[in-house]
Amino acid sequence: MDGNGRWARSKSKPRHSGHRAGVKTVRMSVEKAAERGVEHLTLFAFSSENWARPEEEVSRLMGLFVEALRREVAELHRNNVRLRFIGALEQLSSGLREKIAKAEAKTASNTGLQLNVAIAYGGRWDILVAAKGLAKRIADGSLRIDEVDEREFTVGLQLSGTPDPDLLIRTGGEQRISNFLLWNLAYAELWFTDVLWPDFDVRDFDAALEHFCSKQRRYGHTGDQVEAVQC
Ligand code: IPE
Ligand code: MG
Repeated sequence: MDGNGRWARSKSKPRHSGHRAGVKTVRMSVEKAAERGVEHLTLFAFSSENWARPEEEVSRLMGLFVEALRREVAELHRNNVRLRFIGALEQLSSGLREKIAKAEAKTASNTGLQLNVAIAYGGRWDILVAAKGLAKRIADGSLRIDEVDEREFTVGLQLSGTPDPDLLIRTGGEQRISNFLLWNLAYAELWFTDVLWPDFDVRDFDAALEHFCSKQRRYGHTGDQVEAVQC
């Protein structure tokens, strides 16, 4: 979800008003994802690297997360959405952590859209945590090195149990992954758009889905061996 700061600057507003405006795009994306039959949606809300931003911006963002949880969880729950947060959550304030735990518990048995929110998240950190988990299991004798395979490795990832993303959407014009789900995105289709996150609307969202639907996913096979994506 990139481009909030530039959106604000283009309107001569402070950066935090861009983040605030971005919340309505989150609402739209979650709604449309559920409507379009998307089963898992993961939002990159705050990266490990974002801690380096000016203190005021970080604290405004954290405030916005608290506020968004306070305002949105009841509606998400009504819509059968299951919430899950990933990242180094121990780095967050206890107030925010409490709200996160409550939101997760409240929506835990919902069966609709699985909505993952990445906060204080980094793809390399995620892989390191999984690697340490494996090392521990090997050290205590519960796993042998020759048993280590992709399946065992992914057990320790933040999104273990969730299928790999089919599609990555990045707004704001940059064409990079910026330490998002490095392991999980191995085969994802990538969709980059210049549209700034607060301006990203339902037409943009559908354009990204259409792009995905036009793809044939070969996973190393030849075109004759596989079928086109069914949408
Ligand atoms: C993304 O928008 C939002 C967060 C990182 C929370 P930016 O704040 O990165 O916006 P730009 O890139 O400065 O426009
Ligand atoms: Mg940015």
